[in-house]
Amino acid sequence: MKSNFEVKGLSVEVDPSSHEASTFAEAPVDKSARRGKRVVFGVNLTVKSGEVHALMGPNGSGKSSLALVLMGHPAYQAVSGSVELGGKNLLSLKPNERAKLGLFLSFQNPVAVPGVSLGQLIWSSYKSITGDGKADIREFYETVKKQAKNMGLKEEMLERFINDGFSGGEKKKAELLMLLSLQPKFVILDEIDSGLDVDTLKKAAEVVNQLVKKGTGVLLITHNQKILKYVKPNVVHVLKEGRIVKSGQVKLAREIEEKGYAGI
Ligand SMILES: Nc1ncnc2c1ncn2[C@@H]1O[C@H](COP(=O)(O)OP(=O)(O)O)[C@@H](O)[C@H]1O
Ligand SMILES: [Mg+2]
Repeated sequence: MKSNFEVKGLSVEVDPSSHEASTFAEAPVDKSARRGKRVVFGVNLTVKSGEVHALMGPNGSGKSSLALVLMGHPAYQAVSGSVELGGKNLLSLKPNERAKLGLFLSFQNPVAVPGVSLGQLIWSSYKSITGDGKADIREFYETVKKQAKNMGLKEEMLERFINDGFSGGEKKKAELLMLLSLQPKFVILDEIDSGLDVDTLKKAAEVVNQLVKKGTGVLLITHNQKILKYVKPNVVHVLKEGRIVKSGQVKLAREIEEKGYAGI
């Protein structure tokens, strides 16, 4: 079944005083911001199954806010518009219900979860999201171990508490492992490339390409065109001050590299 991801006329407000907002390290706490500050204005976006759309834009343009509202973060409210995955409306659903429909968000700054190991998290997410009651834990772990090894992540990382003392690269690899086992229909990658060395970047790109081949749609948020050498976007969008100001082919990313966002 085709699972297109469709965003229509989406406007987003953030409630900076929300308790939940402060649990995300990436959400900048702007004391001057008032309740209900609008950060995204009338965004339209259709990503078909197996397509990659890059979303680029300067710092503070609203990229992460868009990602977070799509996943259902409580501090970010959709004040107008619609979001559908495979024809199902997502906006009225909780984040876990969205995940069950096949949505996955990789955070810019994933949080640590003391008490739960990476392996446990991958297994329990796999079971709850896919509803695969017949999965065998040992077989599953064997596959995950192979994938971890392939990614250059030490096996013992699976026993460690999720993101607790993980290096930046290890956090990203942990997310990629999760992605591989969940095989989501649509994935939002928020700056998955930031802080990665070139080998890890290539691994990340490999994982994304593998998923795309199987039909996953991707929204690749980045302000760096390097990853676009390895993951070829069908479309590049530029977000500025909460609005998509331009969409085009991959040469738009090169144009940004040359002229900067000010020239777009
Ligand atoms: N939790 C929050 N509290 C206050 N302001 C926020 C919050 N989240 C986002 N914003 C504001 O929204 C705007 C867009 O931020 P963000 O979505 O993080 O941009 P980007 O990811 O493109 O760098 C910024 O002005 C930022 O300060
Ligand atoms: Mg961001």
